[in-house]
Amino acid sequence: MTNWAPDLASRNGPRYLAIADALAADVAAGRFHAGDRLPTHRDLAWRMGVTVGTVSRAYAEAERRGLIGGEVGRGTYVRAASGDLGNLMSPAPDAMGNLIDLTFNFPPPAAEGGVLGETLAEIAADTGLLQSLLSYQSCAGRRSHRAAGAKWLALGGLEVDPDRIVVTGGAQHGMLTALAALTRPGDRVAAEALSYPGIKLAARLLGLRLDGVAMDDDGLIPEAFDALCRSGDIKALYCVPTLQNPTTLTMPAERRAAIAEIARRHGVAIVEDDIMRLLAPDAPPPLSYYAPDISYYITSLSKTVAPGLRLGFVAGPAGAAERLAAAVRTACWMAAPLTVEVGARWIADGRAERILAARRREMARRRARVLDVLGQHDVKCSEGSLHLWLNVPDPWHAGTLAAEARARGVAITPADAFAIRRRDATHAIRVCFGAAPDMAALDRAVNILAELLKSEPPEALGTVV
Ligand SMILES: Cc1ncc(COP(=O)(O)O)c(C=O)c1O
Repeated sequence: MTNWAPDLASRNGPRYLAIADALAADVAAGRFHAGDRLPTHRDLAWRMGVTVGTVSRAYAEAERRGLIGGEVGRGTYVRAASGDLGNLMSPAPDAMGNLIDLTFNFPPPAAEGGVLGETLAEIAADTGLLQSLLSYQSCAGRRSHRAAGAKWLALGGLEVDPDRIVVTGGAQHGMLTALAALTRPGDRVAAEALSYPGIKLAARLLGLRLDGVAMDDDGLIPEAFDALCRSGDIKALYCVPTLQNPTTLTMPAERRAAIAEIARRHGVAIVEDDIMRLLAPDAPPPLSYYAPDISYYITSLSKTVAPGLRLGFVAGPAGAAERLAAAVRTACWMAAPLTVEVGARWIADGRAERILAARRREMARRRARVLDVLGQHDVKCSEGSLHLWLNVPDPWHAGTLAAEARARGVAITPADAFAIRRRDATHAIRVCFGAAPDMAALDRAVNILAELLKSEPPEALGTVV
């Protein structure tokens, strides 16, 4: 690919960002393979009629996004092939310009700013408390914080003693904590064939081998899970049974009971990521409810209240809290007590539920709008979901659609980012409509997608060689 030179005609904004975006789009579309070499700075500058400095800035931006790397003697080469590490395409917010970035599963804006000011003032007024929050705490979390966790879990239908709960810095950290407590490098972990990309990152970090389990419209297929368990020593199942990411599916109660029974029969621990639960209008009891003796239940305030609080909880089986706390201690000693205090107060006095209710109303409004425009396509978008999952119509490929959408100012994620094995990648895209800054931006974005879906992909027009 040393002759790569993108066409920037349809791209606005600074040239260096346009080049980095074009590179990201070509990676997403599968036009590069990891290890492909890129032109030298001087060559690309000459071919595109820009300065060497512009190309250097573009490559620096692409490197910052993790797309490319460089070594003396090897030149610049592509690091990530399509979907390799999830959100690599996303630029830093300050570099986004006109891009409407729908790749992150953000909750929509809610008016929590004023509430935060009040809460911080309350905390600051209690100097004794403030001093202790600014010091080291128990690695599992303060008693009051674990009690807030128990209340949050009870809202979702799971009654757990606070002693079994460990406070984490969000659900991703909760997942890492549970897996670190449960597994050793080389262990096999099962997951839905299409799953939240954070599990791939966690497995890579912990040296775990992931096995994708086939799904249908009710989620994990019990027979497929049973067959996998029989084929070898699966240590744990990582599963998102409610408003699954990316398919938005919620597993029905009978299916949960069947999966729990299979896991128990084979001695497989369940790591249930239930981060979306309180957004779902009527989800059945958690999977952990059916198998509390083998389950590690994870949730956080990220999708329901505020991701920046970095507040999550893990509830393990009886006797697991010490191992979980040890895993927290190893990673970060403890979740940040000050922001945990904010979230715990909001849970304890009901402010968290009020923010959640506002977010749910906004999500319902957005979902209706998105389905109005894209609903005639093959979409999954269960009520409460922060995103939509769309099977792209033939002859579009998910990667090409994502690249073309990005060229028009809308960032979405193709299915391969979620596939545990490459063969599980379908021709689908995820559109995180909660992430649009406002309704006008959302309208613009979905109309661009609708127009694209009506048109011919570039391959059909013979523009790809
Ligand atoms: C299923 C799932 N689990 C975990 C996370 C990470 O959550 P947190 O921000 O609490 O770490 C996400 C974020 O998108 C998610 O979708």
